[in-house]
Amino acid sequence: MHTTGGPGVFKYEDVPQPKPRQGEFLIEVHCAGVNPVDTKIRKGKYKPFRPRLPAIIGRDVAGVVRGVGGKARKGRRSAFRVGDPVFGMLDYDRGAYSEYTIASAREIAFRPKNVSERDAGAIGVAALTAWQGLFDHGRLKKGQRVLIHGAAGGVGHFAVQFARISGATVIATASKRDLDWVKGLGADEVIDFKNQRFEEHTGNIDLVLDLIAGDTQDRSWGVLKTSGGAIVSTLTEPSKAVARKHHARGMRMVVKVKTAQLRKIASLIGSGRVKVTVAKVFPLRRVTEAHRCLENDHVRGKVELHIAPTWTDLAARMSENGGTPSQLAVYAGTGLSGLGPML
Ligand SMILES: NC(=O)c1ccc[n+]([C@@H]2O[C@H](COP(=O)([O-])OP(=O)(O)OC[C@H]3O[C@@H](n4cnc5c(N)ncnc54)[C@H](OP(=O)(O)O)[C@@H]3O)[C@@H](O)[C@H]2O)c1
Repeated sequence: MHTTGGPGVFKYEDVPQPKPRQGEFLIEVHCAGVNPVDTKIRKGKYKPFRPRLPAIIGRDVAGVVRGVGGKARKGRRSAFRVGDPVFGMLDYDRGAYSEYTIASAREIAFRPKNVSERDAGAIGVAALTAWQGLFDHGRLKKGQRVLIHGAAGGVGHFAVQFARISGATVIATASKRDLDWVKGLGADEVIDFKNQRFEEHTGNIDLVLDLIAGDTQDRSWGVLKTSGGAIVSTLTEPSKAVARKHHARGMRMVVKVKTAQLRKIASLIGSGRVKVTVAKVFPLRRVTEAHRCLENDHVRGKVELHIAPTWTDLAARMSENGGTPSQLAVYAGTGLSGLGPML
């Protein structure tokens, strides 16, 4: 991005490969989840972070470590080695919409073999937000009742599954076309937010996870249990005065990267207990369409960018590992599946 604004501000162009410094890793990006926060940063309207232009944005990442910065400290092993598959949530100023990016060990975790790159690239912001909203801030416990607003989106579809696994009763709001799908994720009741008023259909709620704000948040106080309930919002700070009136807690959360949580979430996905829904995948060149899709279309789950290594990268890597460019040409038609160790 050379400027902030609409989805058309993205330019697909070459820039120098970033260089990892001490404690950092060069990541070859294969998948990058697209989040609403990316669209806000693109517009230059996200208060916590304004990009220094020109900028590459994008926080969710899955890929492979291709370089380790600095010198190995005596007696200390690097957290990751070249060739390790990793995924995570990058700091705002990194930029996963790119063939290569930089991450520190704090921002990434090892990707287990039973989690695909596609699924891993969708975890970052959305799954960590769901986890932290429910458990770190919401203190959700087994047997409690949670209401999740916006359950069919990126954060919501993880939240429904995590809450279900924790043993909570899950009530969710979603569009009519998503009701059955959200039920299939594990919700006990799903309320059609366009045609029903949720406060007329549920109550005695311990925790509201508010991914919508506005009128939805205002009306949520009325569904909390009489004392000790909570509203955790990803968007706007609930009024402290209104919270007191309802003998409840209210807070706005901001997601933080926690590698132990990334590992836990990956293990739930690897074991099949949590399913990631990636509704649409775009190649990096079509990032403008990916942003339009997230902003204007109805999306179930996540939107993601896929970034294939260039032929130049593949040829260089093959020759480093004893292969030849002609072998690459032979394999070009086979979807690269046979190249294995040479890549
Ligand atoms: N503070 C933080 O750290 C943090 C972290 C992550 C996300 N967020 C914010 O949290 C929000 C949700 O994120 P996301 O990634 O899940 O977004 P998303 O993928 O765009 O999902 C939003 C979902 O909400 C649904 N929806 C719209 N209006 C609704 C309503 N009135 N009631 C119930 N559902 C409604 C949408 O359904 P339709 O498609 O049918 O309209 C969609 O399924 C975003 O605004 C994001 O910026 C904040």
